[in-house]
Amino acid sequence: MGKGFFLSKPLGVGCMILGTGAVATIIALSVVYSQEKAKNDNQVLPTDGGTTTKPPATTAAPSNEPWDKYRLPKSLLPQQYNVTLWPRLRPDPTGLYIFTGETTVEFKCVEDTDLILIHSNKLNYTDSASLTSVDSGVKAPSIKSSFLQSETQYLVLQLDGKLVKDHMYQLYTKFTGELADDLGGFYRSEYYEDGVKKVVATTQMQPTDARKAFPCFDEPAMKAVFHITLIHDIGTVALSNGEQKETSSVLIESQNVQKTAFGPTEKMSTYLLAFIVSDFAQINNTMDDVLIRIFARKPAIDAGQGQYALNKTGPILKFFEGYYSSKYPLPKSDQIALPDFNAGAMENWGLITYRETALLYDESFSSNSNKERIVTIIAHELAHMWFGNLVTLRWWNDLWLNEGFASYVEYLGADNAEPDWNIKDLIVLNDVHRVFAVDALASSHPLSSKEEDIQRPAQISELFDAISYSKGASVLRMLSDFLTEGVFTQGLTSYLNTFAFGNAVYTDLWEHLQMAVDNNTGTQLPDSVNNIMNTWVLQMGFPVVTIDTQTGGISQKHFLLDPDSTVTEKLEFNYEWIVPIKWMKTGVIHPTIQWLKAKSDTVNEMKTSEPSDWVLANLNVLGYYRVNYDQGNWDRLLIALRDNHISIPGINRAQLVDDAFNLARAKIIPTVLALETTKYLTEERDYVPWKSALNNLDFFYLMFDRSEVYGPMQNYLMKQIIPLFTYYKNMTGNWSTIPAGHMDQYNQVNAISMACRTGLEECSTLTKTWFKQWMDTNKNQIHPNLRSTVYCNAIAAGGAKEWEFAWSEFQKATIASEAEKLRSALSCSKQPWLLNRYLEYTLNSTLIRKQDATSTIVYIASNVAGQSLAWDFVRARWTYIFNEYGGGSFSFSNLINGVTKRFSTEYELQQLKQFKADNSEVGFGSGTLALDQSIERTISNIKWITENKQNVLNWFKAELKLYEASS
Ligand SMILES: *[C@@H]1O[C@H](CO)[C@@H](O)[C@H](O)[C@H]1NC(C)=O
Ligand SMILES: *[C@@H]1O[C@H](CO)[C@@H](O)[C@H](O)[C@H]1NC(C)=O
Ligand SMILES: *[C@@H]1O[C@H](CO)[C@@H](O)[C@H](O)[C@H]1NC(C)=O
Ligand SMILES: *[C@@H]1O[C@H](CO)[C@@H](O)[C@H](O)[C@H]1NC(C)=O
Ligand SMILES: [Zn+2]
Repeated sequence: MGKGFFLSKPLGVGCMILGTGAVATIIALSVVYSQEKAKNDNQVLPTDGGTTTKPPATTAAPSNEPWDKYRLPKSLLPQQYNVTLWPRLRPDPTGLYIFTGETTVEFKCVEDTDLILIHSNKLNYTDSASLTSVDSGVKAPSIKSSFLQSETQYLVLQLDGKLVKDHMYQLYTKFTGELADDLGGFYRSEYYEDGVKKVVATTQMQPTDARKAFPCFDEPAMKAVFHITLIHDIGTVALSNGEQKETSSVLIESQNVQKTAFGPTEKMSTYLLAFIVSDFAQINNTMDDVLIRIFARKPAIDAGQGQYALNKTGPILKFFEGYYSSKYPLPKSDQIALPDFNAGAMENWGLITYRETALLYDESFSSNSNKERIVTIIAHELAHMWFGNLVTLRWWNDLWLNEGFASYVEYLGADNAEPDWNIKDLIVLNDVHRVFAVDALASSHPLSSKEEDIQRPAQISELFDAISYSKGASVLRMLSDFLTEGVFTQGLTSYLNTFAFGNAVYTDLWEHLQMAVDNNTGTQLPDSVNNIMNTWVLQMGFPVVTIDTQTGGISQKHFLLDPDSTVTEKLEFNYEWIVPIKWMKTGVIHPTIQWLKAKSDTVNEMKTSEPSDWVLANLNVLGYYRVNYDQGNWDRLLIALRDNHISIPGINRAQLVDDAFNLARAKIIPTVLALETTKYLTEERDYVPWKSALNNLDFFYLMFDRSEVYGPMQNYLMKQIIPLFTYYKNMTGNWSTIPAGHMDQYNQVNAISMACRTGLEECSTLTKTWFKQWMDTNKNQIHPNLRSTVYCNAIAAGGAKEWEFAWSEFQKATIASEAEKLRSALSCSKQPWLLNRYLEYTLNSTLIRKQDATSTIVYIASNVAGQSLAWDFVRARWTYIFNEYGGGSFSFSNLINGVTKRFSTEYELQQLKQFKADNSEVGFGSGTLALDQSIERTISNIKWITENKQNVLNWFKAELKLYEASS
């Protein structure tokens, strides 16, 4: 799935609500095998039919029957499916939206068995299942009994004889499901067009919801060919993975409908299937012989909002064909923007689904950041067409390789599509630094999990986190760099060719990379790819490398944000890594990689002899580790920053700030040394270092915005930001234009939002004036890049009038990216009653879409005025939120992290522990780990404040005195 998925991930809440002690719930299912099959195959029975067989004995103790295991037995292998589905876009007389379907699956028996287990979740079977043999001369046994095992999500069929090894059988079923608005499986999305409600039927199968659309062997290694047919109203468009083959008008249940049959898919995994019925419009072009289409709501297509995506898709596909040395494996590439979609995007093979904000671009509404998100998400999803779809990891425990890979190469694809943007630099901010924060906790986890530890759908969902995406991307980038890109892609191509249309495990990739290394005598590694990578993949965390420039001594140590926290994981590699170190001395890059293979080593070249010499390691932060130095070298680096910051690469200036702040939090260096790295910012104009500094200062805001440190801190930061603010004011002719460069556009936003945040009068006047002009004239002339920050500041400064205006604009917005900016800005108010009312809105899906509920609450919690309101709200509503929003639409981990990130007092810690105790019955779903991490983080925040508050206050005051004295 697309990046940002871990920001709002769904979960299989069903199994968690049932809890451990629950008696296995067995829903009886109609099966009367003697009963005749319905005479007309097109006739779908609307309600339960037939009688009910008695389920097998249910016992309170968990039994060890095959259907109580979450993994399929290895006895049957699906070959092909015929699936016909008919989603109803209007409710039935009882108000329920449903779909009906029938399917035949042909499977091969590879081990004699008298049992068929096939995944099925929330489907009602309306007719008897029937089993037939494909091979003449072999008779299929008949179905003795059948039932649904809801805990493990199976349709269980017990046979009166054996299926015989090496023979093929077909299983036919007919079923009904709810087309719910739960964002999982086959679901419905709703929107209004000219005041008319429209319904789209669409799917999100990954990871385990294909079984909610039709009975299937729902594991990634159970690849098969799918013949899909959709029945839909005349005038609507049906889409699926394959090409539309035939469309015919048919009369079913006295309704004139259309039947669209799609060509057979390639051999593929169930989680990559997609079925969509809508009345969307499209635009198209071709890349070589591949048909490329962008689908969206008709007004969005008419407004040209799909054009940017269409322009970029062909070139990105072409880029990946070159990168992988492998032709795009399908005849078409459809991409569709959906009004309701939980993840950022989903890489269904040949029919990629997106949130509207991730695909639709409109020059007059979209910021450069919206545009960048579109091009990177498209690149991410297209990268999966090969890595993930053509070759699929065997089981979900290797998800990190699939998502980490796409999250790395999305930068390469996007860079190719927008070569002037320097997008590749941003991986350091967006992935490396971001995941360092999580991976430095004792409660982190290794990239790789054992296959047997990942069983339940909730465990699978929990893997879609920052570690899988961002750490995966970071270590693969490191690997590609030390192998060199040529060797990396050579190994990759050979891996893809070997496992095409099949499955692999992560060590298969290492093997093929090793072969490429062995074929290229130029690549010197200190150990095998497998042994090097195991140190990064099998143990959690990362090292801090310490370089002593007096002795040339280098050493490594597991970096823990809280040095007092204890690590309970097994010490398989003893928290030592095989570390590639690229480095420079006083601006001169050292020609070879220095490998650190042990706890410590001596590198004589890293000794400094001249008093002005400095050493800087981890060039461009290509390695997944932090760096610390002896105090003398830190001092010389600070002087280099002050006197000639350009002598240090931009990414490394960002690194110095980020490493220093984090080393300080881990008590490895003093906090004031970290603050010293911000002094040179009066000279800094580049985006990446500024953003790094602001990210780190955010922690200071969280810790101090309710204390006496706040005033002096604000004054110091205002002094630091004014030169940048003035720089952009001059560059843009007093804010009348927008800078040309992509990074400059970003940094202009930093300049304004930070200047306003620190209370610079000129800035708040500016934002208030712009917003007022909009309110007065009803014409929005604020540049899309600046809207988020302008809206937020104006709403914070304003009252109900500004809020109501923004709310009505939010409801009127015709493009999702504009709605998004307003939704976020509405959380900036300082009025508790407005914030409380807004919190209530999040649980009303007609006001705030379900997909946006979590992030809205988190936005409100980020506002110092909304923090405690959001926390009270979540605590008071936990059971309700968990039950109502659990099914696929709510990211509990994000919610818990978001509402507790400011926690730094004993009182808050007690509340958090109480919350954990009070709701242990209800549970925390995918937020379980996040809750423990929040407790750990709160404890460490409390300690940090105790130890640092006075020093930090003194430092800010001293800096201000110096400044006042000099000016
Ligand atoms: C499945 O669909 C294909 C293509 O429409 C057809 O040729 C085949 O006979 C169908 N198989 C079954 C078992 O219905
Ligand atoms: C499935 O059956 C259950 C129990 O009879 C019923 O509550 C539910 O509405 C049915 N779902 C559909 C889509 O028919
Ligand atoms: C491509 O778009 C054109 C213009 O809208 C349309 O006429 C044509 O049918 C489309 N082609 C395909 C293959 O969808
Ligand atoms: C798409 O490409 C066309 C042709 O190159 C260009 O005129 C148009 O401005 C592009 N549109 C967008 C939104 O990038
Ligand atoms: Zn992905």
